[in-house]
Amino acid sequence: MIVAVGCDHAGFVLRSVVLGYFESKATVLDCGVSTAEPADYPDVALRAAAAVSEGQADAGVLMCGTGIGMALAANKVKGVRAASCFDAETARLAKAHNNLNILCLGGRFLSPDRALAVLDAWHGASFEGGRHLARVNKIAAAEAVTFSSGGVVIFNHPLVHHKMTIIRDKNTSVKEFRELVEEVAGLMVYEITRNLPLSETRVETPMASAAARTLAGKKLAVVPVLRAGLGMVNGILSLIPNAKVGHIGLYRDPNTLEPVEYYCKLPQDIQEREIFVADPMLATGGTAVAALSLIKARGGRKISLVCLVAAPEGVKRVHEAHPDVGIFIAALDPCLDDHGYIVPGLGDAGDRLFGSK
Ligand code: RB5
Repeated sequence: MIVAVGCDHAGFVLRSVVLGYFESKATVLDCGVSTAEPADYPDVALRAAAAVSEGQADAGVLMCGTGIGMALAANKVKGVRAASCFDAETARLAKAHNNLNILCLGGRFLSPDRALAVLDAWHGASFEGGRHLARVNKIAAAEAVTFSSGGVVIFNHPLVHHKMTIIRDKNTSVKEFRELVEEVAGLMVYEITRNLPLSETRVETPMASAAARTLAGKKLAVVPVLRAGLGMVNGILSLIPNAKVGHIGLYRDPNTLEPVEYYCKLPQDIQEREIFVADPMLATGGTAVAALSLIKARGGRKISLVCLVAAPEGVKRVHEAHPDVGIFIAALDPCLDDHGYIVPGLGDAGDRLFGSK
């Protein structure tokens, strides 16, 4: 077993205790620091956490004054579950229930003997799996998305990154562009619907009767903003085939850049439905704000905006006008150009979907 060990100046007092403990039990990957000179705990924590995340170490032990700063920093790294433990029983449970893979210790609060007891309880315990595995998996699932400070959810998934790169490529054919827009829309909605309520039922398999779960009769609607939003609909329907589809037509006035409505047809019971508004591009935000206002004016309440690429200007404008609407995007680009196009973006999504240019 390889254990990544690190400390800052305030955790240094426990360094020899921890290294001594592992001497006969594991190989130590030393992540520093090796003196009591002032050091920044995030540097050490992120080094050790990366080693655990990337598999160079099986687990980690980090020491600072309270153990808290180390845990906060380490938990930013994918796959890391770090916590500061102050007694043996908490440490044991943190392994048994949470599969804690980085134990953090507070050098200013734990005597060497107490630190050893905490360390031994954690190291000696085993993850119980079962219902605890399902819960730990939910934590891991949250890593698939990134919550930026603006409240927008950015999908941080390797498949989404890969597909978005091909979508952005100006040499990608219309056929492939269309297929990939559908696929990314499907992947995004798969994640967005992760918390849909379920109800308990039973199912007769060829072998036996079994407890099972189904969607709790939740009503969903997809509302593409014409025309580019149409490109996302099939990807969403492939996962939620019973969703109703509404359509909103808005064009951008070339002079004012403001949206003008030319079509709006929504499911009659729109007020009862959870609504996904689909538009590949969130540029100035003008179209999205108008589309959301139209849906709300017709009774829509629970609305999410699903876009492939957004500019910060668009995100800000939608947030200001519709703070209750969740924004889900595959990528946040740096800015808009003088014509209101997202840079680097992917060009005009409608033209690329329909081959009209
Ligand atoms: C350093 O003074 C101290 O802030 C640090 O070791 C740690 O306790 C932070 O959480």
